[in-house]
Amino acid sequence: MAARQTVMFLVAVLLSLSGLIHSFQPLFSFDGNSTTHRDITRRAVLRKTAEVCRDIAASEGRDFSLTIDDSLSTEQVQRACSSTGTSTSLLSTVVFQTSIANMYFSNAKVDVVFALSEEHHFDDETFQGGRDVITAGVSGVKASVKLENFVAGRWTLGRVCHTLQDFYSHSNWVELGNTAPFSTLIQPDQPLENLAGLNTPTCRNCTGGNCENNLLPDLLQQGLLTSGYFNVFSSEKPAGKCSHGGSFDQTSRQDPVGGISKDDVGSSHGSLHHKAADLAVNATMELLEDIRLAVGDKNFLRLVGLSQSSVLCFVIDTTGSMSDDIAEAKRVSFSIIDSLRGTQQEPSAYILVPFNDPEFGPVTMTTNADVFKDSINKLTASGGGDIPELCLSGLQLALTAAPPSSEIFVFTDAPAKDAYLKSTITAIIESTKSVVTFMLTDVLASRRRRRNPQGLAPRTLSQTDTQLYRDLARASGGQAIEVTKSELTLATSVIEDSSASAVVTVFQQVRNPGTPDNFTFTVDGSLRNLTAYITGASSLTFTLTSSTGVSQSSSQSSGPLGTFTTVGNLRRLSLNIDNQTGSWEISVNSNNPYSVKVTGQSSVNFIYNLVEAHEGAHGDFSLKEGRPLSGGNTSLLVSVTGSDKVKLTGVTLFDSSGPTEVNGSLQALGSGNFLVTFKEVPAGDFVLRIRGEDSSSTSRSNPGSFQRQASTQIKTSSISVISQANNTNIEPGSTISVPFTVATTTNGVVNDSATGVFTVRANNDRSYTSTSPNTVTIVADSGGKANGTVTLTAPPSAASGTDVTLTIEAENAADINYAVLRFSVVAKVTDITRPVCQVVSLSTSCPSSASLCASSQWKFIANLTDGINGTGIDSVTVRQGNGTLNTSTLAGEGGVNVTVATYSASCCSQNVELATVDKVGNVGKCVGQARDSTTAALTTATTAAVNTAGHTVSLSHCLWISVVVSLLWK
Ligand SMILES: *[C@@H]1O[C@H](CO)[C@@H](O)[C@H](O)[C@H]1NC(C)=O
Ligand SMILES: *[C@@H]1O[C@H](CO)[C@@H](O)[C@H](O)[C@H]1NC(C)=O
Ligand SMILES: *[C@@H]1O[C@H](CO)[C@@H](O)[C@H](O)[C@H]1NC(C)=O
Repeated sequence: MAARQTVMFLVAVLLSLSGLIHSFQPLFSFDGNSTTHRDITRRAVLRKTAEVCRDIAASEGRDFSLTIDDSLSTEQVQRACSSTGTSTSLLSTVVFQTSIANMYFSNAKVDVVFALSEEHHFDDETFQGGRDVITAGVSGVKASVKLENFVAGRWTLGRVCHTLQDFYSHSNWVELGNTAPFSTLIQPDQPLENLAGLNTPTCRNCTGGNCENNLLPDLLQQGLLTSGYFNVFSSEKPAGKCSHGGSFDQTSRQDPVGGISKDDVGSSHGSLHHKAADLAVNATMELLEDIRLAVGDKNFLRLVGLSQSSVLCFVIDTTGSMSDDIAEAKRVSFSIIDSLRGTQQEPSAYILVPFNDPEFGPVTMTTNADVFKDSINKLTASGGGDIPELCLSGLQLALTAAPPSSEIFVFTDAPAKDAYLKSTITAIIESTKSVVTFMLTDVLASRRRRRNPQGLAPRTLSQTDTQLYRDLARASGGQAIEVTKSELTLATSVIEDSSASAVVTVFQQVRNPGTPDNFTFTVDGSLRNLTAYITGASSLTFTLTSSTGVSQSSSQSSGPLGTFTTVGNLRRLSLNIDNQTGSWEISVNSNNPYSVKVTGQSSVNFIYNLVEAHEGAHGDFSLKEGRPLSGGNTSLLVSVTGSDKVKLTGVTLFDSSGPTEVNGSLQALGSGNFLVTFKEVPAGDFVLRIRGEDSSSTSRSNPGSFQRQASTQIKTSSISVISQANNTNIEPGSTISVPFTVATTTNGVVNDSATGVFTVRANNDRSYTSTSPNTVTIVADSGGKANGTVTLTAPPSAASGTDVTLTIEAENAADINYAVLRFSVVAKVTDITRPVCQVVSLSTSCPSSASLCASSQWKFIANLTDGINGTGIDSVTVRQGNGTLNTSTLAGEGGVNVTVATYSASCCSQNVELATVDKVGNVGKCVGQARDSTTAALTTATTAAVNTAGHTVSLSHCLWISVVVSLLWK
């Protein structure tokens, strides 16, 4: 076969094998009793996050009373982590839940993308290969975090966790009696020892389906490590070796028959499933601790998404006529920054993307408000004149840089020159669920024309140009606000509204073409600061009626239900709820297009993700990217936030342009998670609405009956676009090939007799070199599928940790669909050794009497080096001890830099632990202890393994440098 055909064949095989899950169940456990990768990842992240918060609280002298165990919820952890969080304050866990979901979805995807790769699952005794997958992944996470690319870092982290967790299910580590994680898997500088050789038999036949004693006693006595062989095509395996086991594993039918996997309670070694899963939780925590030490506590919390606040993200046209708009963007962002700085609502990051023509970008993404202020201060309006600008290119950068579900504000007064990106932008909006609101100034007014002395053809923002922005706003759940330049100051209150905490969408509808309509929505008891926004022509009128029958019409700017303000095409209604919970109505009278949006602040909200079922083996699910197929079944994983007592009563897809609505059937999965299945979703643009009840009647903020709506539209498509890259990392200077398959479908099933031509577009947000066919053709007798390959090349200069999002779209006359793929640029890491610590001196011992400790000091000096081939020491931090640390750098032997760490502390604080991190994130530890002078003073320094679970790491697995200093006076 030609290489390309081979690739296609493999893709076809991979796609058809996506049901062959052979690991812990990825997302759901339908036996009601097995632990999934989702559970393991979630528990580990919550426990480690709580530990980090506990340590931060201790260092700041605050109380931290949360018990850290496997029962933690995201609410509990987030509340305990919030330094000011009282039990009554408004808390949104949406960002944290979304981040954890990204990690477990990316974890689960390993079973689809790397279904047949033994090293990704520690099958076939590939211990070195499996560890290499982990090592490369962990380096990638650290590189991403270093560039503050937390979203990319999370995706990589989820993948790494899958492989690490599978070790405990697929190897005999648990059967060997181990009760601590195998730390060597995350320490690439340690040798992998006690592996069973290729010629060492490891298993014997299971007896009558019972595999309890199939591991050879010799193997267990010698403490040799093995893992099960797995193959879905062939029963070949080396003589005497264990198999994975299960119906898809052909090798388990060959002598020795049976398997050793602990994937679920029904597996060959299912009785050890829970032990393996618990160890996998602890191993995942150990990996998280290593990342935490490398990136620091603050960045670790950002990586796991522990933030209540969203980002502040502006995309700004910097053409000549925009100086008033830029001034206003500056004013409103400074006002938000200055009022929220230091509070829980302070934006978690600031993103700024300028654009004009011919330039757009670069993205400024920072957690430092002053850096953002500085960047926005430097924006100047110049040039441009009468040509349209690269608005969508700028927006694309912002959409891929911002975390999912961000709100992005675009300021412009010009049409988009790059309108051809509309479908790409829509795809990224759907995939990120970010909301885009346009602040359009001087629509139809021709300021540019007045400033155009050369007599060039005037290009103003016409209704047609504006429609593009309206369409994108609508797809995302944002608004297209049209005002004059002088009114802009009044309109930017929507930006301030969106930066409030825990903003939820209660209701949203668009009518285009406009037609008079009545809308009802449920106002619940948890809602605060209910606000409605109506955009539409100036002739639009409305009447609002509360649940108790009180009304107010648009002619009353102030009345019993609140105050209304109008600026440009936007009416903002600030509503008084006053115990009027229940069903409210708004009737809008307009024959022009309009939109209605009702928001409030509440802890009760939801996140959702499209998932798709795998056929075969275990019937599990993975994240579905791209549009769901029209006429087919669509599944969602919905997680309700804000209360454990909340029950969902209905989840509905409403066609935003017609009367169609589809009700989902609900399956409760525990902890506020629901699997929702919609049957035969027709072609259309849908909005997702949930209804629920809170059964806890004691809570003061009890919502009772409530409704929430998703911002992003869900569109169905008759085209299927499937694409999987066999690697999600690209080395700088290298090219990756991304095969894809396009098909047309009928009622959600590939139409295998179809033929046709599709236009193909591949776009990436970094403007990296990429090749793509312009079209693909389904020819007769090809099974209804057409294949193609897109290539993407990372430039040699790309910084390690950069992320790049590739969108592949396929379109025919009837429809469009796409695949979105995320990659990280990661340079190969050759420095895998941790910095080494050598104690050079200790001075003074401490008095034995605790009452005298405050008057004495002790001192500890250590030389820290990263070795001749190391990347060099990047940072030294005090992990334990409240003394002062000074560092200086000397040139040591052989040109190796030596960092001299001098630590001095009061004798009331007699322990010190330093973490030394090199430039690629390898972490070494250095420990010292002062003892009282009456007994022997003893100090040890080690480069001990990161050891979070509190277990002693076996000596053979780590490098210990112990310096024992016996002082003279005994
Ligand atoms: C789950 O498994 C445990 C141990 O194997 C058993 O004690 C328990 O009854 C099981 N629960 C269910 C719901 O099957
Ligand atoms: C193991 O089981 C297989 C199939 O049942 C059988 O053919 C084989 O002889 C058995 N081997 C041993 C060593 O008992
Ligand atoms: C995991 O770690 C916790 C806390 O360090 C410990 O209590 C528990 O026993 C460990 N679990 C296993 C299976 O080793």
